[in-house]
Amino acid sequence: MNQPPTLPLLPSDFLWGVSTAAYQIEGAVAEDGRGPSSWDAFCAEPGRVLNGDSGEVACDHYHRYPEDIALMAGLGVDAYRFSFSWSRIQPAGSGAVNPLGLDFYDRLVDGLLAAGITPSPTLFHWDTPLPLEQAGGWLNRETALRFGEYAGIVGEHFADRIPRWITINEPVVLTMLGYGAGIQAPGLQLGFDALPAAHNLLLGHGLAVRALRAAGASNIGVANNHAPSWAASESPADQQAAGLYDNIANWIFADPILTGRYPEALAGLLPDAPAEVLEHDLAIISSPIDWYGINYYNPTMVAAPGHSASQGDGPALIDGHELDASLPFELVDIDGYPRTDFDWPVVPDAFTELLVSFKERYGDALPPVYITENGAAINDGPDAAGRVEDQRRIDYTDAHLRAIADAIDAGVDVRGYFHWSLMDNFEWAVGNSQRFGLVHTDFDTQKRTPKDSYHWYRRVIEANRGQA
Ligand code: GAL
Repeated sequence: MNQPPTLPLLPSDFLWGVSTAAYQIEGAVAEDGRGPSSWDAFCAEPGRVLNGDSGEVACDHYHRYPEDIALMAGLGVDAYRFSFSWSRIQPAGSGAVNPLGLDFYDRLVDGLLAAGITPSPTLFHWDTPLPLEQAGGWLNRETALRFGEYAGIVGEHFADRIPRWITINEPVVLTMLGYGAGIQAPGLQLGFDALPAAHNLLLGHGLAVRALRAAGASNIGVANNHAPSWAASESPADQQAAGLYDNIANWIFADPILTGRYPEALAGLLPDAPAEVLEHDLAIISSPIDWYGINYYNPTMVAAPGHSASQGDGPALIDGHELDASLPFELVDIDGYPRTDFDWPVVPDAFTELLVSFKERYGDALPPVYITENGAAINDGPDAAGRVEDQRRIDYTDAHLRAIADAIDAGVDVRGYFHWSLMDNFEWAVGNSQRFGLVHTDFDTQKRTPKDSYHWYRRVIEANRGQA
């Protein structure tokens, strides 16, 4: 096998982890009192998810969590990022708590602690309780208030055992793909009218920070997806489109948390709330956090509308879906780089660029950074001998860890890395077709097979500990 000559080295106290999310791995959607979520409903709509897949069984982690903890122990990770299913804990999204839901996470958390792995959960990874979704979901401010209450319930129960917390995952994706473009749950195509969801998700984040602290929890962060927004050309029109996209994909989700303000360029697009309400909300949204989580996969290339037509290409796409032609930007293919099996470009340098841009934008207002997700869809399966040779995942991860090391050298305080993902799982709108795991999941038999990348990541962790 072509091993890179050396293993990537990060600071000796760097935190090493893996990441998953409830709906993508748990299954057991109707068990022990769990209520339905937006994703159960979305998957049940014909044509929404590739091959009619759903998270109904996923990796059956609900029953197989001891095996999955053992896999993590074998990997030697310090920490595990998973998410709580809100509708397992509070089936209606408000009101009564389901003790059996808490019991499951008690077993998981206690199992992790016994294995020496730090539970680092996310409170919300897109699976909104269905009754709340039916009442408007994140377009409705009420959902943010209910989320704050739920955060308090989880905090009260777990604060003494959980030393690191994440409020919400990637509000940008839920806003853009869920409410804007209709590619993910709840499947609405509101275009810019989706932006109130961004505000309410941010408000939910801030309320959760406060509720967690009130419950005695500490070490609280958020997991935001970020991607450098590259203009397709030097033309003023492309530059302007890329600047707008940068604001609505990146800074609208980071500025309010880190500075208490929305980017000025977006003033005209923001929720039409009275100034005092906005000010009140921004004070909550900017409640101090202890660290900032970045999920990075690849950069985005942006052009002014009409680019594809002028190139004689087909319609502008986002994740293979046609983009609303009335939007003031187009997303364009990035050529000249290797691609993952999901067709995402592999651009490690853009990761360094992104991390450095955070330091430049926020200076001392940027708390320590953790990489809460990074990984690649590489669909290699077991060979006849049962081995999964996913060298391209090793190459991707190796290069991205070195990109983090470069950012640290450039003065960015990055403290840890959670690889996405521990195991192949339900990859949202593309179902089980794209495999992000260090561990291969056979979705028919539920057999787990550690891939070459799993053994490589274990060696990386060992080598890094060895420097201490
Ligand atoms: C992120 C998301 C994860 C996972 C990953 C790979 O946007 O938080 O749940 O699906 O992308 O696509």
